[in-house]
Amino acid sequence: MPEFSENQACYPFYRAGLVQGLMMDLKSQIDQEKLPRHIAVIMDGNGRWAKQHGKPRVFGHRNGVKAVRETTEAAAELGIEYLTLYAFSTENWKRPQTEVGALMHLLVETLHKEINTLSKNNIRLKAIGQIEKLPEKTYKALLDGIKNTAGNTRMTLVLALNYSAKWDIVQAAGKLAEKAADKVILPGEIDETAFANELSTAGMPDPELLIRTSGEYRISNFLLWQIAYAELFFSPVFWPEFRKQHLYEAIIDYQRRERRFGQISEQVIADKPV
Ligand code: FPP
Repeated sequence: MPEFSENQACYPFYRAGLVQGLMMDLKSQIDQEKLPRHIAVIMDGNGRWAKQHGKPRVFGHRNGVKAVRETTEAAAELGIEYLTLYAFSTENWKRPQTEVGALMHLLVETLHKEINTLSKNNIRLKAIGQIEKLPEKTYKALLDGIKNTAGNTRMTLVLALNYSAKWDIVQAAGKLAEKAADKVILPGEIDETAFANELSTAGMPDPELLIRTSGEYRISNFLLWQIAYAELFFSPVFWPEFRKQHLYEAIIDYQRRERRFGQISEQVIADKPV
């Protein structure tokens, strides 16, 4: 391999080529037959990344948008059907007002900027959470984005906004209670399918892979029902630095795992189609 030093003019091109090569190598290791249908991501580490760079927290969120773009693009290119991003939790309202305001503004700005790209790429936008309680401008930008991409079929990008898994479970229970009171459903008919049909994710497959960035090992009130059998992947990378190759790494790791769903290894092997 030729040696280049950083001050040589061609170094950036060499380095870009090297990164490209490594990425292609990772991508080629992905088994297209074993792709997760749904990937969920807890985007974490924006604030710490900004601090590392001596900048305010919002600088981290702004750079986080680049990671959102890359991850969405990579997932769509691979053929992932659903990508769910935890963009704002119910608990995030407790952050300083200036940060909440900046995040809401960034969401509006990003939605306005990116909706055309989503449309061009045949990506549908959806949202889960109590979105009607978001500031009016954010809510409107979101509804417009959802409406304008409703017919797209390649991939669904789901933004979890003002979302909490406990809220999701409680609101589903509430809806079922109302249906039972109205005699639309009998208590004995309430099973896992009936319950899942009332969750905000109704109609979507459960995520098979959940990624959390920034080296934290928590679920933070995200999709608790839906991740019952998800494989968990914890990346040490801060979200603003998350790139396509990190998504590939997570998928490769997921594909190497044996998903047993309560069975023993021999049963899983016997069930595999030959
Ligand atoms: C977590 O990092 C990040 C968030 C709560 C917000 C994520 C938002 C974006 C990336 C911006 C826009 C998103 C979309 C979908 C357009 P943190 O602030 O908790 O970081 P820390 O743990 O280091 O403090």
